[in-house]
Amino acid sequence: MEILRNISLKEYNTFGIAATAKFFAEITTIDDLIQVLGQESYTDRFIISGGSNILITKDIDALVLHINIKGITVAKEDADHVVLKVNAGENWHNLVLWTLDQDYGGLQNLSLIPGNCGTAPIQNIGAYGVELKDCFVGCDAIHIKSKELRSFTKEDCKFGYRDSFFKNDGKGKYIITTIYLKLTKRNHVLNTSYGAISSELKKQNIIIPNIKDVSNAVVAIRQEKLPDPKELGNSGSFFKNPVVTKEVFNTLHGAYSDIPSYRISEDVYKIPAGWLIEQCGFKGKRYKDAGVHSKQALVLVNYGSATGADILDLAHNIQKSVLEKFNIRILPEVNIIK
Ligand code: EPU
Repeated sequence: MEILRNISLKEYNTFGIAATAKFFAEITTIDDLIQVLGQESYTDRFIISGGSNILITKDIDALVLHINIKGITVAKEDADHVVLKVNAGENWHNLVLWTLDQDYGGLQNLSLIPGNCGTAPIQNIGAYGVELKDCFVGCDAIHIKSKELRSFTKEDCKFGYRDSFFKNDGKGKYIITTIYLKLTKRNHVLNTSYGAISSELKKQNIIIPNIKDVSNAVVAIRQEKLPDPKELGNSGSFFKNPVVTKEVFNTLHGAYSDIPSYRISEDVYKIPAGWLIEQCGFKGKRYKDAGVHSKQALVLVNYGSATGADILDLAHNIQKSVLEKFNIRILPEVNIIK
């Protein structure tokens, strides 16, 4: 494994931010990873994989480890289920397509999410009524300090909405190398309750959908609303949807009768941040090369040469406006590297 110098990270983050890594190593095996962590001359390290959930706001004065460990294997199976062992560097959507080809069910609603498998647990990726945690069994991760490989159960990972142990107590301490997912081999469970999926299936005249139909519907919806990072740099939803109490929701509803919401429980409501941002007039706006996507205000985009700081300035202005207009603090979902 070679350690390179002064490498542009533009191709390694879906925002397409042209920051430079002082040192850079491509990691294709767990042995490589353990070996590089043992090199005492590089104590500052920065981990990158699919680069789909980060905003880099400056050059990285550290050794960047690009986790690119490949491999999908069946770890366990019976007549009804299969447990897949998937290495961290596998592209998430390629995994989804592979599972659909084998007729394994569970990941269809999570189609076309950018990024790699090893980072999927960090923010518990989710879309269209399904989250990674719904089929997640466990993962292996290297403890950076001791260089030991540790196993985590689903409970250890403490999943929440776009949240996990790896974003909290475990932050910066582990590198996930492998994930384990339990999928169905028959009697697939379909979740088409998310409004857009059922209307998309209807549009396609599909009455009894299979897992591939659901995946195709999700792909069609995402392609309609979300920009392809290969064409327009972005990191998906930039902010999390804020969660408010029923009391706050009722006050907002009194003032804005058309406010959309997801009811989480009796007293808890989630409000789409995209709606709040659109109400503040940002949808489709552009400031230098940083912008707010014209079809989904929750997505910030790089028109080509935006710096991380340009995107961050825009994000701060959006947060300020939403706070002033609605008295709600929206928080980034994307990891901001300062
Ligand atoms: N809306 C607007 N204006 C906008 C965008 C949204 O008014 O510009 C309102 C609409 O009323 C719409 C509602 O917000 O019905 C919800 O929008 P959407 O269905 O696009 O979902 P979201 O809540 O904005 C979340 C996830 C997405 C995920 C979709 C579908 C978060 C932060 N985002 O977005 O995840 O694909 O639901 O499940 O939870 C991602 O994490 O990168 C991501 C794209």
